[in-house]
Formats: sequence, C-alpha cells, structure tokens
Amino acid sequence: MIFLSYSSSNIEEIKQLFTKVFSDSEGQSEGVLIGNLVYDLMTGTGVQDLYGFVAIENKKIIGSIFFTRLIFESEVNVFLLSPVAIHTSYQRQGIGQKLINFGIHHLKENGVGLVFTYGDLKFYSKVGFSLVTEKLAKAPLTLTYPEGWLGQSLVSDEIEPITGDSYCVEALNKPEYW
Ligand SMILES: CC(C)(COP(=O)(O)OP(=O)(O)OC[C@H]1O[C@@H](n2cnc3c(N)ncnc32)[C@H](O)[C@@H]1OP(=O)(O)O)[C@@H](O)C(=O)NCCC(=O)NCCS
Repeated sequence: MIFLSYSSSNIEEIKQLFTKVFSDSEGQSEGVLIGNLVYDLMTGTGVQDLYGFVAIENKKIIGSIFFTRLIFESEVNVFLLSPVAIHTSYQRQGIGQKLINFGIHHLKENGVGLVFTYGDLKFYSKVGFSLVTEKLAKAPLTLTYPEGWLGQSLVSDEIEPITGDSYCVEALNKPEYW
C-alpha cells in the first residue's frame, strides 16, 4: 500500500471511488452527491486551497481524502478534512486512519495549524480529533449535527478560540453537505 498526493490524471478514478463507496454505505443518491462533490473540489478549487491524497494497492486507488481551506476573519492557517473514503472491501483494516494521518502529517509540514472535520467522533477521535463547540470556532454553514463538528490543533495540545465567521471553498458551500 502506498500513499501519495493525488494527480489530475486521477480525477475520474477518484470520482468513481467516492461514488461507489458512499453508494455502498449510504445509498445511491448520497454516492452521486459525494462523487460530484469531490469532482467539484478537484476541478473548482485553487491549488493553494486544496490537498488531496490517495491510497494505492496493485496500481488501483482504494482510498482517497481531501482537505480544503477554511478561512477565518482572523489570520490562521486552517483546513477542513472532507470527504474521505476507503473502498468498501478494504474497510476496517486501519487504512482510513493511516490515510488521514498521512494527510495530516503533510499539512503540518506545510504550515497548517488547525484541521476541522464534520463527522463521527467515535471514528475521528482515533486520529486526534475532538468535539469543538461553535463558541470555540464557527462552522462555515449551519450544522445539522452540531455534535459532528470536530477539530485538532497541529501545533499545540488544545485549540485556541477563534473569533469571527468562517468560510469554506465554493464546492462545499452548500447546505446539503452540512
Ligand atoms: C470511514 C472510513 C473512511 C474509515 O476507514 P477504514 O479504513 O474503514 O477505518 P479504519 O480501519 O482505519 O478504522 C476502523 C474504525 O473506523 C470506524 N469504522 C469504519 N468502518 C465503519 C463502519 N462501516 N461503521 C462504523 N464504523 C466504522 C470504526 O470506528 C472502526 O473502529 P473499530 O473497528 O474499532 O470499531 C471508511 O470506512 C469509509 O470510507 N466509509 C464510508 C464512507 C464514509 O463514511 N466516510 C467518512 C465520512 S466523510
């Protein structure tokens, strides 16, 4: 298994992976929604605002993850992890956690100080995330599940409170993702 930054020649394969994985886990319409989301992220986000990584086994992409910039009014270097997918037949073997840690390590080396995500604390706490209140740091859109707003500092043990609103990249700026 190798982990790499994604390349633009992988766009279709990555879109297919997310569509398939989320169709398997959440149903076909969610699969199509998330497949389109990652396509929009890859094709409509500036390179300075996007990190994407893949896990490769036998020359096939079996996992992928994206991080996009989250802008706060105060100047901090913040990214949002979303989404991540591991091919259905490769799940629960530790690959998801390895891919997330690989991505976070890369972000840290590039000066990112803080990472947020929106998901299941039970899973994401295994890779360093903890619950964040919106008093500590505001989410960019209204959260359907406030208990899914999670974060981790890459520079200290705790997240310092961040004042002001936050803004995500265009592809994620839709209420259905939140
Ligand atoms: C969530 C996901 C990325 C995790 O990757 P993974 O390689 O399967 O996970 P790991 O093997 O590294 O970690 C295992 C942990 O993940 C969680 N997990 C993984 N698959 C799960 C599932 N189907 N149901 C519930 N929890 C699950 C559990 O906490 C599990 O720990 P446990 O086995 O001790 O209970 C992957 O299962 C996936 O792609 N799921 C479908 C898409 C999705 O939900 N993506 C995340 C939201 S963006």
